[in-house]
Amino acid sequence: MPRIWVEEITKGLYVLRVDDDRVKSFEAIWDLPEGATYNAYLLKTDGKTILFDGWKRSYEAEFIETLKGLTRIEDIDYIILHHTEPDHSGTLPKVLELNGYRAKVFGHPVAGRLVNGFYGIGDKMDFHAIADGEELKLGSRTLKFLHTPWLHWPDTICTYMVEDGILFTGDAFGGFSMPDKLFDDGELDEYLHYVKKYIVNVVGHYKEHISKSIDKLSGMNIEIRMIAPLHGLIWKNDTHKIIEYYRDIAEGKAKKGKVLIVYSSMYGFVEGAIDHIIAKLPKDSVKVFKFTDMEQDSISDALAEVPDSELIILGASTYEAGAFPMMEFFARQLAHKANYKKSVLMISSYGWGGAAARVIKNILSETNFEIRDTVEYRGRADEPILHEIDKSLDKLS
Ligand code: FEO
Repeated sequence: MPRIWVEEITKGLYVLRVDDDRVKSFEAIWDLPEGATYNAYLLKTDGKTILFDGWKRSYEAEFIETLKGLTRIEDIDYIILHHTEPDHSGTLPKVLELNGYRAKVFGHPVAGRLVNGFYGIGDKMDFHAIADGEELKLGSRTLKFLHTPWLHWPDTICTYMVEDGILFTGDAFGGFSMPDKLFDDGELDEYLHYVKKYIVNVVGHYKEHISKSIDKLSGMNIEIRMIAPLHGLIWKNDTHKIIEYYRDIAEGKAKKGKVLIVYSSMYGFVEGAIDHIIAKLPKDSVKVFKFTDMEQDSISDALAEVPDSELIILGASTYEAGAFPMMEFFARQLAHKANYKKSVLMISSYGWGGAAARVIKNILSETNFEIRDTVEYRGRADEPILHEIDKSLDKLS
């Protein structure tokens, strides 16, 4: 049985959160031993019942039971879809079926097409495509809908609950992991690491839209007293902190001196050079991820370290006239998910002919990364090669 949280977070507004400790790979690609939460919300106000989003379909039975603890499902008047990725819309078909399709479903104009494509419910669903800035008056409460596309899909909206100052944000301002609390109370460093990982792994390809949406919200001059995202913690103590954290990660704000090293080494020849580099750098400033015959680190975790690094060192062996496969994949994800303006030092070893450095340079050639130097050698890194590496490090640090 998963851990389920239900709590009234302000008058008439409830969070329904499930902790997914079964998921191994978010979106079937990003490994997350830390798990994830799916947050839905239910508002009962002025004789109306409004459901905000839902959970992944694998928790459908639990969602329906949890919802029934708060309301008769037939009584739901409105369903607001902040983003239709199935980790939030998976329970929609069952809710609508039990509701008799009487609820009006509000979403971005793109959302109707998406949920119909996923679930084939377009004929039965009473869908209303909301306009940017449109309001729904509920007596004492007003919901104002904002288009915030590409956070993380084109269908993303935010809803501002005007009188309460609560912003429902879809994926935005969320994070991975299953925190042992609902709100941003107490120590937050560990959680913020999982927020960073979430931003890069999930929203990274569209990160320019994070700053655009934050600017849009800032320009509205609204007081945001609480942020209610679809993953992770609800922010009520310091909403400014998570907004600025998202901006910093989206814009790649570096920590002074931080170096990220990611390398593959089949027989220790790349590792010899990398160990030499690690020994020269301040211990606390380096994050290292490796693919060797003894260890296979997480590409998801390595990507999470890109935004706040100053320098990235890639070590790749040549493998069958190409780059070592894990490093080629990592370089492609750098280009696709974590395309930041960062300096790169390329280290590469080969047997009978070098190819890895060329392949990785090609992958990064039309990105924001700048390969500042390349040290490529046959077999082991001997003294002249280590000297060359020292000169590169001096130049780059
Ligand atoms: Fe949490 Fe993009 O869905």
